[in-house]
Amino acid sequence: MHDETIAIHGGYQADATRAVAVPIYQTVANDFIDADHANAIMDLAIPGFHYNRINNPTNDVLEKRLAALEGGTAALVVASGMAAVSYAILTVAVAGSNFVAAPQLYGATYTYFAHVLPTLGIEARFAVDDRAESIAALIDGKTCCVFVESVGNPAGNVVDLEAVAAVAHGAGVPFIVDNTVATPLMLKPIRHGADVVVHSLTKFVGGHGTTLGGAIIDGGTFPWAQHDDRFPGFTRPEVAFHDVVFARDFPERAFVVRARSIQLRNTGATLSPFGAFQLLQGLETLSVRLERHESNARAVAAYLAGDPRVDWVNFPGFEDNPYHHLVERYLKGRVPSILTFGVSGGYAAGLAFFDALGLFKRLLNLGDAKSLAIHPASTTHRQLSESELIAVGIRPEAIRLSIGLEHIDDLIDDIDQALAIAVA
Ligand SMILES: Cc1ncc(COP(=O)(O)O)c(C=O)c1O
Repeated sequence: MHDETIAIHGGYQADATRAVAVPIYQTVANDFIDADHANAIMDLAIPGFHYNRINNPTNDVLEKRLAALEGGTAALVVASGMAAVSYAILTVAVAGSNFVAAPQLYGATYTYFAHVLPTLGIEARFAVDDRAESIAALIDGKTCCVFVESVGNPAGNVVDLEAVAAVAHGAGVPFIVDNTVATPLMLKPIRHGADVVVHSLTKFVGGHGTTLGGAIIDGGTFPWAQHDDRFPGFTRPEVAFHDVVFARDFPERAFVVRARSIQLRNTGATLSPFGAFQLLQGLETLSVRLERHESNARAVAAYLAGDPRVDWVNFPGFEDNPYHHLVERYLKGRVPSILTFGVSGGYAAGLAFFDALGLFKRLLNLGDAKSLAIHPASTTHRQLSESELIAVGIRPEAIRLSIGLEHIDDLIDDIDQALAIAVA
């Protein structure tokens, strides 16, 4: 089936009630039939639900739908995108591991990598840029994965996934891709060599600014058994889960089963079933929303680029953007509705523009039906030093816009009046 159809129907078969909407299974636990049934479920020998920190029937539909859209073998949904990022790293890393990341990252991801994981003995190595050669230079025998955002937030860089996958696999490590900004409707990283995909579902997938959520999707591609020394958590009996050997017992979905059984089960960043329901609602309309997001974003980007009150516009949809060839190759010419730009007059003028916006909401989110603006240097990336800001691709004066679904004339009018105030 096509993506538009999977996004509406994937993973759901009505029960005897024939409910057309996915029911919200608001329950903490599920009744075992008898002791044998309990044992089989606890051993993961048969599918089924037991305690809803770990799995839930509403969440299960969302997981199956996301796995189908990404072309993966299984998925795990969690309470936020940051929970997904953190669980993905902690599923492969141990104290003493390092991992290599492209530097263009969402602010909290960068902070978590640079300043939190090192306190657990896990070293994040940031490449000087997102090129495969730069990433390759930092991989060594203790590297447990390579991590990139397919389209960086807010840098708007587009990573050459196949080149980076080749480098990661050549070194025997899995490739983890945060596909939040592109969504699986624009880009499917597993087709281009990713082994694991993570998402903040809070953004375009939910799409209405109501619900936090995250996901991990397993490509089922990484040959854990060939890398016993590097990934004993996959190839040897797991004492934290009654001696399951994840790569042997679940070869098609070892990553997600391990993430669920070790991270989610023990630390509990569980998505509520009501949250899963809201995210399923969003997913149903994602394909049509993305079309309007994109056409509005192209119009706003063109307007800004043609306005003398604007110094620069960073939008991968422009033909002269350095990432344009990768947009053609990986996004099939489509672009997410995120752009950054600099108001003429620099930092102070940028903040004056931000303050003068009327229709655009000033807030910390993206991918909402509403148009949003933020000044990353003072908000999403506030924890970063000036040199870290440059490394992750953010100019101090940059304003990031996430273009929503309103009428384009109203968006342009708001930008025009804010520019008039900022650049007097
Ligand atoms: C690319 C990316 N990854 C992860 C996250 C974290 O997601 P959440 O806010 O759902 O925790 C964000 C949030 O903006 C993001 O943009």
